[in-house]
Amino acid sequence: MTVTSQAAPIDPRLDLADEIQRMKREKNAVILAHYYQESDIQDIADFLGDSLQLAQAAKKTTADVILFAGVHFMAETAKILNPEKIVVVPDMDAGCSLADGCPVDRFRAWRAKYPDAVSITYINCSADVKAESDYICTSSNAEKIVNAIPADKEILFAPDRNLGRWLIQKTGRTMRLWQGSCIVHETFSERKIVGLRERNPDAKLIAHPECEDAILHMADFIGSTTALLKYTISDPAKKFIIATESGIVHQMRKASPDKVFIEGPPEGNCACNECPYMRLNTMEKVYLALRDLSPRIEMPQTLRERAWIPIDRMLSLS
Ligand code: 13P
Ligand code: SF4
Repeated sequence: MTVTSQAAPIDPRLDLADEIQRMKREKNAVILAHYYQESDIQDIADFLGDSLQLAQAAKKTTADVILFAGVHFMAETAKILNPEKIVVVPDMDAGCSLADGCPVDRFRAWRAKYPDAVSITYINCSADVKAESDYICTSSNAEKIVNAIPADKEILFAPDRNLGRWLIQKTGRTMRLWQGSCIVHETFSERKIVGLRERNPDAKLIAHPECEDAILHMADFIGSTTALLKYTISDPAKKFIIATESGIVHQMRKASPDKVFIEGPPEGNCACNECPYMRLNTMEKVYLALRDLSPRIEMPQTLRERAWIPIDRMLSLS
């Protein structure tokens, strides 16, 4: 199939993976990709990681161009950390239900109700919301950030209520939670996972903290995407049920070819354990974004400078 951009069509004879490598050298570009990308994109990435590792890699890179194969808030974070670099994405519509569920005007009004509270906001939010937050966190450092806040301070946590609830249990802190959720991690079926565990008593259930409480309660291990991947490598179990987006299973199988990975089942007969936003990105769109250096992430300098502060606080604590 020939995919076209508004500028020029893709020559169907091209080997996209080879062309992407050639353009990366030509343009001094780096490809940062999240584990929830389709396997082909993971395989051409220069750096693959969870949200925190990708932000750290974005901060460190010396490339002139960053192609961010993930979702919009991740690319925006890369731009906040690299105002002088060109940051392109394969698809500008690759959003996130958590970011969409936390519009800045409502967030600002919520904060205004608790003027003495400290706000910790999950990185899955817009630059506007970051600019209104005290600290940013990801699933891999959230516990550390919460523990860094003085015990007498009230904490506002947004936008993921499942991650927030899990943090309350882990840290013993009382926190006010924004009522947002991830459409992918809320999809896992408790009933089907119970059935799977009965049929596979030797399997370990591992889950991302964006999952609902019922799933987290059953899990043998809870962690960020990187933590889940590391667990499947270091744990002696030979079988795992994976309650997170199915893209990560590609790396789990590559790292442990002798182990069995069962994708956590959604309640309906859908592919809802694939993030519809992450999966908007394709190899064709990666090629076009590099070729045309478009679409680009841009933002006003004042917004960038305000959003940088809570991200920098997070990176200093990580
Ligand atoms: P992590 O990669 O930080 O675990 O986040 C998962 C996620 O849902 C990203 O959108
Ligand atoms: Fe957002 Fe969930 Fe998709 Fe991650 S998996 S980008 S949290 S909708």
